[in-house]
Amino acid sequence: MSITIKTAEDLPALRVAARLGAELLDYLTPHVKAGVTTREIDRLAHDYIVNVQQGIPAPLNYCPPGYTPYPASICTSVNQVVCHGIPNDRALKDGDVVNIDVTVIKDGWHGDTSRMFMIGKVPPHVERLCRVTYEAMWQGIVRVRPGARLGDIGHAIQTFAESAGYSVVREFCGHGIGRKFHEEPQVLHYGRAGTLEELRPGMVFTIEPMINAGRREIREMPDGWTIVTKDRSLSAQWEHMVLVTETGYEVLTVSPGTPAPPDFVASR
Ligand code: MF3
Ligand code: CO
Ligand code: CO
Repeated sequence: MSITIKTAEDLPALRVAARLGAELLDYLTPHVKAGVTTREIDRLAHDYIVNVQQGIPAPLNYCPPGYTPYPASICTSVNQVVCHGIPNDRALKDGDVVNIDVTVIKDGWHGDTSRMFMIGKVPPHVERLCRVTYEAMWQGIVRVRPGARLGDIGHAIQTFAESAGYSVVREFCGHGIGRKFHEEPQVLHYGRAGTLEELRPGMVFTIEPMINAGRREIREMPDGWTIVTKDRSLSAQWEHMVLVTETGYEVLTVSPGTPAPPDFVASR
């Protein structure tokens, strides 16, 4: 297997799938509040994808080697949950942070994106973790251009997150995406500049750093999916899909509700 290059014929449909992922997060946003259970959010997402977007929720029954089928349509990762949180009957409460990670399949193409949501009033250290993680994702995105290397992305993210006093999860990474949910290459969120695969126009991959407030070690819960921080510290994650263009990058997972890039992006 190798890295697929998306052609001018592929891109319109891939852009649509990516936009649907972002629009799904827009749709969910007003529902993500104290008192709502993540199972209710999952149901809203499932029905919106199937009935409104006329797509397929990629996570539902997704079953990579060594896993049991994933039992929901989205991932909801609350507080110390790093990723792959399974929606459940616990209500969100004031001060929680939750990552909602969605993947829509439309006409055979995948759109994968996630955002952080702060419930009610959160303490400043929680807000800072979410903001720094968002900026870390963008530190990776702005490195994307032909001739750059995957290691440049990981290095930028790691340097930024660690200089803020946080740690980078190693066991999960970004990934190529297209007709398959998870394709080559793996996009590590740590590493050395100038190493690994050279980026070429037409590559499409996610950048989705998981950043922990404490140590980087993780544990898998007995459900076989939910990943938590070993030290129970908070964890945050954001995810975009990025196309390598002839001159730089194009973020594909955009919608009216997509947060603006950080200030350092506009000024480059
Ligand atoms: N959306 C996740 C990612 O960004 C993958 C979730 S796999 C699932 O790669 F089965 F848990 F949904
Ligand atoms: Co995702
Ligand atoms: Co992904």
